[in-house]
Amino acid sequence: MKTLELDTPVLLIDSDALDRNIARMKDMTAAAGVTYRPHAKTHKSAVIAAKQIDAGAVGVCCAKLGEAEVMAAAGIDNILITTAVIGESKIFRLLHALNSVRIAVVADNEDNINMLGRMAQLAGQQLDVIVEVDIGQGRCGVPAGPEAARLAQIIDALPNLNFAGIQGYQGKIQMVEDADMRKADTETGLDKFAATLAEVEKTGLSVPVKTGGGTGTSPFDMERGLLTELQTGSYVFMDSRYGGIGWPGANAPPFEQSLHILTGVVSKPAPDRVIVDAGLKSASSDHGPPVIADVDGRTYEFGGDEHGIIRMTDGGEVPWNVGDKLRLVPSHCDTTVNLYDQYMVVQGDEVIDVWQIDTRGRVQ
Ligand SMILES: Cc1ncc(COP(=O)(O)O)c(C=O)c1O
Repeated sequence: MKTLELDTPVLLIDSDALDRNIARMKDMTAAAGVTYRPHAKTHKSAVIAAKQIDAGAVGVCCAKLGEAEVMAAAGIDNILITTAVIGESKIFRLLHALNSVRIAVVADNEDNINMLGRMAQLAGQQLDVIVEVDIGQGRCGVPAGPEAARLAQIIDALPNLNFAGIQGYQGKIQMVEDADMRKADTETGLDKFAATLAEVEKTGLSVPVKTGGGTGTSPFDMERGLLTELQTGSYVFMDSRYGGIGWPGANAPPFEQSLHILTGVVSKPAPDRVIVDAGLKSASSDHGPPVIADVDGRTYEFGGDEHGIIRMTDGGEVPWNVGDKLRLVPSHCDTTVNLYDQYMVVQGDEVIDVWQIDTRGRVQ
């Protein structure tokens, strides 16, 4: 089937671009001597997770227990859940999933750690726990410094928990456009990570896993060499926001746009304006509207839940008519993916496969 024969709106993956992105991250991390554990919150797909593991990733990260459950059921081994799993019901689910694959979890709270320890003991299981440290995000995580060492010792003392390492991640600096500024921000965060690490090591505990980082900070994380595992997510797809950031020694990041929304023109109410069938329910808006792929001089604005409005920037006639189809670049890949059930995988102008977005909506 030809891509342009697909019903719209629909999410497309350019299979060759995806594979090249996966290979590039593999080569970059291999050259830097660092392992990587890509964040599956971006693609939510067991097929893509398996491709990343085939390309040398040590496992994957999941944002939520619900994502990890689906990945585990699909046979994806060695998962790190990068947000804390809180409460008996969720810990029960975690331990159940742990029966089939290796799963580690982050924690930043003593009561939560004690509950993880008690329930793992009751279940007769061993659970790896990573202490989350706030290295600048101002979200979860103990403050950088001695508190992480205290929690690490509590974990170590519990017979069914293993202290596995430290996580520090800063989402808000990933898309700082200026590469030098982003590098400086990365260094500041990694200094906090290093200070925390020193506190933990003072207790005599070893810290096998030092995990964090995203696509934007990855060149600087690799250069510094402190993190043992990079959690890069968006590099598989990229989006218009990430595509605009600077990269050291180059004009653009070394990853290609492999994700698009194919949208169809449903109305041309005036020569200077066409209406397409992708609106707020088909393209996320948290990073602004999507942009039109490959052509300049046309703008997209949201026209409501189901519609987008496209105009020429010079006010001239839009060269599309009702029934035409065009590709949009999402402004934020993660939140756009979460709006769809499936990817249509394309090569050139042919549809070659359909992949489920397995963990779509698995936010619990
Ligand atoms: C904890 C954590 N690690 C890694 C990532 C991946 O970051 P990026 O998509 O910028 O590569 C995210 C994304 O939100 C995250 O929350």
